Amino acid sequence: MSPYPITIDHAEGAMLVDLDGNRYVDLGNDYAVAMSGHSNAVIADAIKAQFDHGLGFGGRSKHETRLAEILQARFPSVERLRFCNSGTEANLYAFLLARAATNRSLFVMIDGGYHGGALSKAMSDDRFFAPFDVITVPYNDVAALEAVFEKHGPQIACFAMELMLNSGGCIVCDEGFAQAAQRLCAKHESILLVDEVMTSRLHVGGLQAHYGIKPDLTTLGKMIGGGFTIGAFGGRADLMRLFDQTQQGAIAHNGSFNNNVMSMIAGYVALTQILTAERIDTANALGDGLRKQLNALCAKHKAPLVWSGQGSVLALHLGTTEPKRFNPPPLSAEIRALFHAHMLDQGFWIAGRGMLALSVETQRAHIDGFADCVERFLVEQSEVLGLVSEALAAKEVAA
Ligand SMILES: Cc1ncc(COP(=O)(O)O)c(C=O)c1O
Repeated sequence: MSPYPITIDHAEGAMLVDLDGNRYVDLGNDYAVAMSGHSNAVIADAIKAQFDHGLGFGGRSKHETRLAEILQARFPSVERLRFCNSGTEANLYAFLLARAATNRSLFVMIDGGYHGGALSKAMSDDRFFAPFDVITVPYNDVAALEAVFEKHGPQIACFAMELMLNSGGCIVCDEGFAQAAQRLCAKHESILLVDEVMTSRLHVGGLQAHYGIKPDLTTLGKMIGGGFTIGAFGGRADLMRLFDQTQQGAIAHNGSFNNNVMSMIAGYVALTQILTAERIDTANALGDGLRKQLNALCAKHKAPLVWSGQGSVLALHLGTTEPKRFNPPPLSAEIRALFHAHMLDQGFWIAGRGMLALSVETQRAHIDGFADCVERFLVEQSEVLGLVSEALAAKEVAA
């Protein structure tokens, strides 16, 4: 955060407090990790109780089995799963598994898709992208996806997608695109990998349940660890069997912290006692309402701004219609930075890219306060926004 990075001192419930004692309503929630809120008392008690009984055993424990069972019940496509330490790791392992299982090496991803720090074409160039051969397609473009499969089908190990583009701007997936992904992967015997690291919070069974599709592999992370570091990947039993060490030619998936007890316990407590289907629905309804409220305000003030997303996750865009694919117009970064600074100044913490992720601690009063603050931004910055509208209109005319 240039030029004055803010240093957080501590967090409590729905609030963050910085070193200078400024308090912020936290609507970023640790990039969607903290869906249970900060330091939830039920999770804290379970962690404190375990502390006297060991943090990691270097062996199996009942804690991982319990968490795995909950996840399998929520995600029936996940017949077997393995734990790791982050969403990035989960996706790296899933990519490697897809390559090993299919004996193919080509990956298809989405423009603006994000599968972790080393698996994002939008955020870094090839020097910092894990060494996989990748073709990207625009989101929600069935014809482009069909064309790629038509041309490269027999080489495609895996199509990796999010059922809502998350870091790419909370862009909602068309039903037809999700169905096409399933159909094309089945036809060409490629693996459909659905990254639910973020979207597991949008429906109790993730967005795969919402869209009624059955991926071959699923990756999970963020909220499933109750705030502790975690990742998980899993899916078809025949694919996951490649890790079965009793079989010849098995693959080893090693990692000192893969089943660390704190993450397993925090995740289990979070999913069984806090992030129940009912509370997930409530957070999503709150987010859907907020998105509508904010879009109504943008329309009322004729601002060139629009909010996209689904349920408890939403993001700000330049423009007047919700984007269907990742293609940020010029000035997006500048307007988001201005918006972000305004929100911090008024005591609301959001992700710098204009993303919000609500938690079960988020109350109506928080989001009403945020909406008021957005309206003040629209009024105070009306001149700037008017110039941006003109620039966007000129660009459209030129196009
Ligand atoms: C869809 C998606 N996949 C993967 C990741 C990476 O997860 P982690 O930050 O735990 O490595 C993220 C993180 O934002 C994500 O949104």
